[in-house]
Amino acid sequence: MQKIPGPKQLPVIGNALLFSPLGPYKVENLIEGFADLHKKYGDVVHLKLNRELVLLFNPNDIQKMYKHEGKYPNRPTFEALIKYRKENHQCVGIVPDNGKEWYRLRQSIIEILHLKTVHSYWSRQKEVAQDFAQTLLSFPADGVSNDFLHHAFLYSLEAVGILCYGRRLDCISSCSKEGAKIAEANIEFLKALGETFHGLPWWKLWKTDSYKRLESSQDFMMKISLKYLSDARTRMLKELSTFAEQEPFLFNLLNNPTLTETEINLLLTELFQGGIDATATTISMMLHDIAKHPIVQSALYQDLKENEPKPGRYSPLLRACLKETLRIHPTASANSRILDSAAIFSGFHVPEGTLVVGVNPVISKNECFFRNPFEFDPWRWLSGKNEIHPYSVLPFGHGARMCPGRRFAEQEILLCVSEIIKRYQVVSFNEREIRMKLATNLIPADNISLGFIAR
Ligand code: HEM
Repeated sequence: MQKIPGPKQLPVIGNALLFSPLGPYKVENLIEGFADLHKKYGDVVHLKLNRELVLLFNPNDIQKMYKHEGKYPNRPTFEALIKYRKENHQCVGIVPDNGKEWYRLRQSIIEILHLKTVHSYWSRQKEVAQDFAQTLLSFPADGVSNDFLHHAFLYSLEAVGILCYGRRLDCISSCSKEGAKIAEANIEFLKALGETFHGLPWWKLWKTDSYKRLESSQDFMMKISLKYLSDARTRMLKELSTFAEQEPFLFNLLNNPTLTETEINLLLTELFQGGIDATATTISMMLHDIAKHPIVQSALYQDLKENEPKPGRYSPLLRACLKETLRIHPTASANSRILDSAAIFSGFHVPEGTLVVGVNPVISKNECFFRNPFEFDPWRWLSGKNEIHPYSVLPFGHGARMCPGRRFAEQEILLCVSEIIKRYQVVSFNEREIRMKLATNLIPADNISLGFIAR
């Protein structure tokens, strides 16, 4: 590799100390660490953590990274999850797998990115959003929640349950014991996944505490998923044609002859889990951002009164608020690929097989690409959208491996926020700006405290 700038490396361990208790950065504050490395070394930075990697801070380079991702885009895998799944379920699933097997499974869920499929869930998702908005009135302290993220978790569980299992799971109510257990297991799973990914791999030698928590939370999610899946199968056998019409995605998956029963359950578990955390964080941060900006909130309310959302047709300002929240508070810490062929990034040659990390959360707050980058200004996506580099903000990734739940998540979030803003004036009780911390995904570091005043 040509000499790419980067911090000095120690023999064998390279830069491993940078994010250790002895170093200047914390894993939890990964993005701040990356931003500092960008300031010190420029747009392309070479690091050796548990492997060699190259950080990219220029959107033109990120565009190029996707050109070199190949037919089967490879991401660094979650080895501990692979071990657990191979030993317990004899298959690996979409999230941690790479190569041809990833492609085969990914093809079997591709239709959830088709707008026709996503829109067919519109009415039922809208009902979920309306029920959720209604429950905000029952918050104990006069419509105030000091931990809104918890409620958003329950909403996203309920909404993604419609896609995955074709039914309401009755999770929205804060009395739902099952909802709370699923939300808890998912948080535990993501924490343990992050620990086994970033820490030293002692779990290869014995079952560490993180590995045990990964195992138990994943066992729980697979069991819950199997219960809902069996129920869906019974309903399908009773009323085949109604089921096929109402549950296009689930029907095709259950009748896909190339998939085993365990693979179907694993795919649904992955979608179910993939659909909880990032969606709930985005809804919570979007409401927080809107609440902190009363001018945006009243313009949005007017817009929503005049433009009732329809499948695929939302108030442009509402869409812009979502983009702006995902620009300032993205849930993915980076977009990475293992290069399928050699590439040149900002003049530096990087060989095939290198792990390349596009640090979009730093780019999206760089004033070279966004004026007043820390200001929540949704209008920049309306009047100034032609100036925005298309690879500067990529909250759902990009290319053949882009988030398969993207369209579904957007529908779920836009419906939820519009139903809430139509009914309530939302106020924020957080005095400090909310920081995001890394727990596999980026999540709010503080509780999100919101109040809902009926209009
Ligand atoms: C705001 C909400 C969401 C955000 C920001 C988000 C973001 C992402 C990102 C950045 C990736 C990696 C993409 C890449 O490597 O290019 C991803 C992958 C994935 N997401 Fe999402 N996601 C969201 C919601 C959802 C939902 C609702 C589902 C399920 C219905 C889902 C299921 C998945 C799955 C299964 C993968 C792995 C795909 C693969 O490796 O091929 N996500 N998501």
